[in-house]
Amino acid sequence: MYKKLIRPLLYLLPAEVAHHLAFGGLRLLASIPGVLRLMRHVFHQNDDATRVRALGLDFPNPIGLAAGFDKDAIGYEALGAMGFGFIEVGTLTGQAQSGNPTPRLFRLTKDRALINRMGFNNRGSADAVARLRRPHRTIVGVNIGKTKVVPEEQAIGDYVASAKRVGPYADYVVVNVSSPNTPGLRNLQATEKLRPLLCAVREALNEVSPARRVPLLVKIAPDLADEDVDAVADLCIELGLDGIIASNTTISRDGLASSADEVEHCGAGGLSGPPVAERSMEVLQRLRARVGEEMVLISVGGIETPEQARERLEAGANLVQIYTALIYDGPWLPKRLAEGTSGREGPGQ
Ligand SMILES: Cc1cc2nc3c(=O)[nH]c(=O)nc-3n(C[C@H](O)[C@H](O)[C@H](O)COP(=O)(O)O)c2cc1C
Repeated sequence: MYKKLIRPLLYLLPAEVAHHLAFGGLRLLASIPGVLRLMRHVFHQNDDATRVRALGLDFPNPIGLAAGFDKDAIGYEALGAMGFGFIEVGTLTGQAQSGNPTPRLFRLTKDRALINRMGFNNRGSADAVARLRRPHRTIVGVNIGKTKVVPEEQAIGDYVASAKRVGPYADYVVVNVSSPNTPGLRNLQATEKLRPLLCAVREALNEVSPARRVPLLVKIAPDLADEDVDAVADLCIELGLDGIIASNTTISRDGLASSADEVEHCGAGGLSGPPVAERSMEVLQRLRARVGEEMVLISVGGIETPEQARERLEAGANLVQIYTALIYDGPWLPKRLAEGTSGREGPGQ
């Protein structure tokens, strides 16, 4: 029904409008008494063979929704009930901001890809707290980033403010230094800048949550050179980070089936979906070889099928995430992917 009826209708609309409509519809549906429970019954298989233990948490399955879909933490219970093992909300910034001018989200249908330059449009981390502190069943990671108007030299304060607000309610926190849509953000991946940032966020989380150690992860770009991936991995080991998420969207436009005109029409932004899959897998393999078995790796980028999810898990990912494939394949995808991981061997089993 999604591909035959709903998707063609959504495609008549600009991509961002379609997103708000579909997400709004889901939230409305989930607000009807009894529907969340019904959804969980339909979409979750409750199968011991899909469970994963990682980051000190028991995930019902290893398939997560990547950051950027539920930026303001407004619908994570409904999304969780749709079959995901966990939801990463955000990116939340220290201050509310409207993001880049629209249009800022584009479909490249021939590549089943998206290009976005959203620019961290969100209501800010303080606003999200009211919703994050509600009791919830879904495992919720909170991804934090830098407010655009905050200068790079003051970035740490902005991340720390968000970490202090969301830390007590987050199942894990992600420091996002890899979005291509906030000028200068990716410079924070350089180890001399990343070290003080991660130390400060770790300290902030310890301060606001002394009784429960909040797992801290960093999310990196697929465009990092191999030596820089190694350097981030070494730093994460040195600092005792809990995990790495690889990867964000790419600024590369290589190997696309879409025409040069179609690609140019989208303009600047991060490319996601199958074109990022190969590099995302390479970075995963490189990271796993570098960090050993202990550190949690979340692989994201171009995963569309149960086989691909399984491949990532077998290549050393503890968990995986999707975003773009959900737009192309619809609401049954998380369940299909989760079923495909049933009974597999891998870290976290
Ligand atoms: C429209 C859109 C918005 C995104 N926003 C964020 C974001 O706010 N923070 C973030 O860390 N990643 C963001 N991402 C990146 C995704 O979380 C993910 O890393 C990337 O899309 C690769 O996965 P995919 O190929 O399954 O989409 C966004 C992606 C898309 C398509």
